Amino acid sequence: MNTPSIGQPLDRIDGWLKVTGGARYSAEIPVSGVVHGVLIRSTIANGRVAAMDIAAAEKLPGVLAVLTPFNAPRLPDKPGGVNDPRGGRRISVLQNDRVFYYNQPIGVALAETFERAVHAAELVNVRYDEQPPLVDLLSNESRAYAPRPPISRDRPVDQSRGDAASALADAAARVETTYFEPVENHNPMEPHATTAVWETPERLTVYDATQGIHNTRHRLANIFGLPPDHVRVICYFLGGGFGSKGPVWEHTALAALCAQKLGRPVKIALSRQGMFNNTGFRPELYQRIAFGADADGRLVAQRHECLQHNSMIDEFVESASVVTRMLYQCPHNYSSHRLVRLNIGTPSYMRAPGEASGTFALEGGMDELAYELKIDPVEFRLRNHADTDPSENDKPWSSKHLKECYQLGAEKFGWAKHNPHPRSMRTADGRWLVGYGMATASYPTRRSPSSAVARLLADGTALVQAGTQDLGTGTYTIMTQIAADALGLPVWKIRFELGDTLFPETPGSGGSQTAASTGSAVFNACTALKQRLVELAVNDLRSPLHGKSPGDVNVVNGRIQLVDFSVNGGSEPRQDNWIGETFADVVQRTGQPFVEVKADFKPANGEKFSMHSFGAQFCEVHVDSDLGRIRVARWTGVFAPGKILNAKTARSQLIGGIIYGIGMALLEETVYDKRDGRIVNPNLAEYHVPVNADVPQMEIAFVEEEDPHINPIGVKGIGEIGITGVCAALANAVFHATGKRVRELPITLDKLLG
Ligand code: MOS
Repeated sequence: MNTPSIGQPLDRIDGWLKVTGGARYSAEIPVSGVVHGVLIRSTIANGRVAAMDIAAAEKLPGVLAVLTPFNAPRLPDKPGGVNDPRGGRRISVLQNDRVFYYNQPIGVALAETFERAVHAAELVNVRYDEQPPLVDLLSNESRAYAPRPPISRDRPVDQSRGDAASALADAAARVETTYFEPVENHNPMEPHATTAVWETPERLTVYDATQGIHNTRHRLANIFGLPPDHVRVICYFLGGGFGSKGPVWEHTALAALCAQKLGRPVKIALSRQGMFNNTGFRPELYQRIAFGADADGRLVAQRHECLQHNSMIDEFVESASVVTRMLYQCPHNYSSHRLVRLNIGTPSYMRAPGEASGTFALEGGMDELAYELKIDPVEFRLRNHADTDPSENDKPWSSKHLKECYQLGAEKFGWAKHNPHPRSMRTADGRWLVGYGMATASYPTRRSPSSAVARLLADGTALVQAGTQDLGTGTYTIMTQIAADALGLPVWKIRFELGDTLFPETPGSGGSQTAASTGSAVFNACTALKQRLVELAVNDLRSPLHGKSPGDVNVVNGRIQLVDFSVNGGSEPRQDNWIGETFADVVQRTGQPFVEVKADFKPANGEKFSMHSFGAQFCEVHVDSDLGRIRVARWTGVFAPGKILNAKTARSQLIGGIIYGIGMALLEETVYDKRDGRIVNPNLAEYHVPVNADVPQMEIAFVEEEDPHINPIGVKGIGEIGITGVCAALANAVFHATGKRVRELPITLDKLLG
């Protein structure tokens, strides 16, 4: 395939709409007669709602109803329904009086305006039967249990090869320690919002801020007992999600429930505070590691045990030890995950769930061991490079260019220039300690079945559709580029549409899988459409190409042309611009408005190859030698994530991932009041995310990678690998700067003092 478009730094197709305010996000789509719903939330973390006095609220002008567990319609209790966590997250939608966490939705105030609904919600008086809540993870560790398998991507909960315990005992060098991270919240720019409209008593349309319109469709269909094609979900633009918009949460099901009850459209838009409480988060996590190496710096054993909390009603595993099973060659390896149920909401996917946190402990531990052995951290990793996947019986990688990433990264960053001794480098003015740190980045290549449809219209332009969504990452743009090259059209002749379940089904935009999965479906549909058009031409008596073989033509700029193989005995095929016709000619002759092909992508080769992206993170930090303030001075990230579809959006994804990691490493922490389980900092004033001043100069580079095994376009996905290794690279740099190992996130200045 000729690829004039793929890889180009094309501006976002939807950029113009976004900067002019023309892009309508889900909460902004106007629906006439919409009723505003505001959630009423529990002020206890454990117990029952004994009574709710809604009389004063209902008397307010403009208030239509207050739904509570005592008057809400009952939903069918079916497989995949509201009580069945297999269909997604198990959610509390006024079906009973139980309270499992502080700020759980226990009611919805519904009014003609948002302000009236807020007022009504405040007037509701609630009486509880309160039980003491379980809020603290460590003090409840005796209640830890093994989650039900599998965890992330069909991995086992625990995995063991060899005999880690005795190998550790015999190791020449050993590191045994605990890495900790607190709860973190997602905080996309666009808050969650759902507007639900019952078109008929049996047909539901939902405008939802979701990372998976088809997931939302299936989940709502199950919850309300409808056939899936009676639920339509629309989402044209997203302002980020980072995993929080993956599952269907309470507000979405409640919007539909309230709309059903009132017989009017209902919108529930969450506030920032509401997002902290009711849309998932990264769980608090203790990672206990023990790594051992021989005197030559070869890993002999790794143990990695994870302890996290979970809610009372559902199960989510931050699969943090999975990366330790596969990243390095190591004969003895043991890893496990244990959970403790607490009266806190249900944790969920957050950018690179498992890998973002797992690489903090793994790559921190590797740095500690490298220092123990007095081996350069890059050299130590090279010595333990896994040539095949040790976690999958030494399956070959579909492709891997990690060594090249280390090499190019070290070169670009100037790694060789540093003095490895801790506390040995300072800025020219002597005030700031300088630290260099590095870590490996790694993320699995996920692929799911996906579909797309491509049409060539009579005017020679193409319309391509897939029921996917654009998180803001550039899905509109890269799909357009794939379609253009597969069809042999310039990008301006392609219109790519997404965000509607009327379009072919695709997976959710999570696990960095959209480009790899839906991109492949778009490629397959457009390739098949091009073939169909060529066949229509060569089989048509009226075509100048009639009777030619499809193998003898080529498509350039929407024109099917004969390739002349007669020159130089066929060694230099020559485009014959005289014999040919345009796509438009072919379509017009059919007498139909368009020619259409629908196609699927189905993942293959999973049993033969292990599929991952890899990269290397290098950073420099400056630490104020008096006050312990930490500034990230510069960053170099080098990645080998398969084919790059768009140089600009790819760079932005990786920068975004690294910035997300800087937040995780240095700033972000959700604080719970241990007495009652309430989040005390559910806002951007007290929960800190990185701003411009926190972000250094960044250099992103790619190692070119051709992977013929993953999918027809060779794409692995880049949404999440950027964050992996970031916390460790920073913690390692802080150690190099100061001589102090901080294993507890976020790395704040108080942890450097004393
Ligand atoms: Mo991502 S956490 O898989 O949306």
